[in-house]
Amino acid sequence: MQIQLSAGEVTRAEADVLAVPVIQGPLEKQKIFTALDQALDGALTKLVGQQDFQGKADQALDLPTLGKLPAGRVLLVGIGPKRAMADATYRTLAACASRIANGLQARSLALVLPEKVSGAAVRVVGEGLVLGAYRFTKYLTGERVPKAELETVQVLKTGGRPSPSERKALELGVSVGRAVCTARDAVNEPPNELTPDALAKLAQKVARKGKLKCTVLDKKGIAEKGMKLHYAVGQGSANEPRFVHLSYIPKKKAKEKIVFVGKGLTFDSGGLCIKPAAGMGEMKSDMGGAAAVIGLMEAVAAVQPAVEVHGIIGAAENMPDGAAYRPGDVFGSLDGKTVEIINTDAEGRLVLADALTYAARLEPDLIVDAATLTGACIIALGKGTTGFFATTDGLARRVDRAAHQAGESMWRLPLDDEMREQLKSDVADLKHTGERWGGAITAALFLREFTGGLPWVHCDIAGPSFSDRAAGVAPKGGTGHAVLTFLALVETA
Ligand code: BES
Ligand code: MN
Ligand code: ZN
Repeated sequence: MQIQLSAGEVTRAEADVLAVPVIQGPLEKQKIFTALDQALDGALTKLVGQQDFQGKADQALDLPTLGKLPAGRVLLVGIGPKRAMADATYRTLAACASRIANGLQARSLALVLPEKVSGAAVRVVGEGLVLGAYRFTKYLTGERVPKAELETVQVLKTGGRPSPSERKALELGVSVGRAVCTARDAVNEPPNELTPDALAKLAQKVARKGKLKCTVLDKKGIAEKGMKLHYAVGQGSANEPRFVHLSYIPKKKAKEKIVFVGKGLTFDSGGLCIKPAAGMGEMKSDMGGAAAVIGLMEAVAAVQPAVEVHGIIGAAENMPDGAAYRPGDVFGSLDGKTVEIINTDAEGRLVLADALTYAARLEPDLIVDAATLTGACIIALGKGTTGFFATTDGLARRVDRAAHQAGESMWRLPLDDEMREQLKSDVADLKHTGERWGGAITAALFLREFTGGLPWVHCDIAGPSFSDRAAGVAPKGGTGHAVLTFLALVETA
């Protein structure tokens, strides 16, 4: 898909679909709307009345121009009331336009920008266009291959000529959007294809393209390093575990050093404590945290911030076989603490424990992890919201701001020290699960044991990383959730 910024008049735009943002409120006061309405002999006003289109944020309306305009169809996209407009609004607008244009089998789209628009808004338009046009079609054949796809997008600036910095911003947005799609693709890949080794190879590919450093440990390397918990989780699968460390070192002096850690379970059957069959296939998405970290690193390579950023991935497949780890087993860890295994389906926190120890040894200013960690978090907050934990209130505010900028929903949950009791074991330093109630919190408390007391944010993305319906900028399936929030964290360092 080619995306270009150009100046031009709405009524002259040539494209299969001409998308126009509409602010909620009186339509006749919006210049672009009235210009188009006039060209269409009042058809817009008529249709808007019939369909009760008010410009609300989730409303869209399209109609054919039947030769009255150079564009084939006009698509009105509601963006809600003017006062509620943030940068994230432009991302959603652009995503909505490209998704609908794609659905209409358009090959070309012209998207009109509101008259006064900032460089930041131009960038998120680039992000949104790519995010909205996303489809995962790799495994479709014959009739199922989409007939047409969006090939060119013209972003139309109505108030004056585009500047070089605006062109750059749009281009950067496109790169960032593509990085999110890298994460989506990885989540959507079937687990027979995306094994731990394939996930590590994807990280290497992203590293090569973005000139990042990348080291990978295989099963033997994981054992030699002393990552006994990670090793234990992977020992029941023919697809051997991998550990990945990506790094970006800025040319300028770094303002901060942040390590991101992702849970990379390419499939979670539950192991010997096997999951029920219904919905087990969704556990191909149990590497959503790792996917977010890979997507983030791709975006970081494009943005080139003055921050040192590391991406760590603990990849494994949780399977039951003769070599699988069992409830009752006791293992050491990279940190040295011993852990009693209670339930082999609580595997993510074990892999993360060793990865967090590794992260802490890099002596960063901040550790951030993303993991599809608990069903309990989905029970608490629903499918659309990440539960996050932060070691300080200031850090929590920083995450709040980043998530808001990214248009992603994240809500703070408490690191309740009183629940730490539940992790006491009779035979080892720790057990890795507590009671059923507050399961997302005890999981977080277990992870905290391995963070070396450093500033730390844990994001339980079990809900939003995989979606059963398209919503906002996110498609059905893998969403790439957390990439944009993490990027905002890096960019506001
Ligand atoms: N990967 C799952 C969590 C999950 C559930 C992610 C649903 C996405 C959707 C995790 O490994 C898991 O199985 N957690 C258990 C923990 C329990 C055994 C303490 C859970 O949440 O049931
Ligand atoms: Mn599990
Ligand atoms: Zn899991």
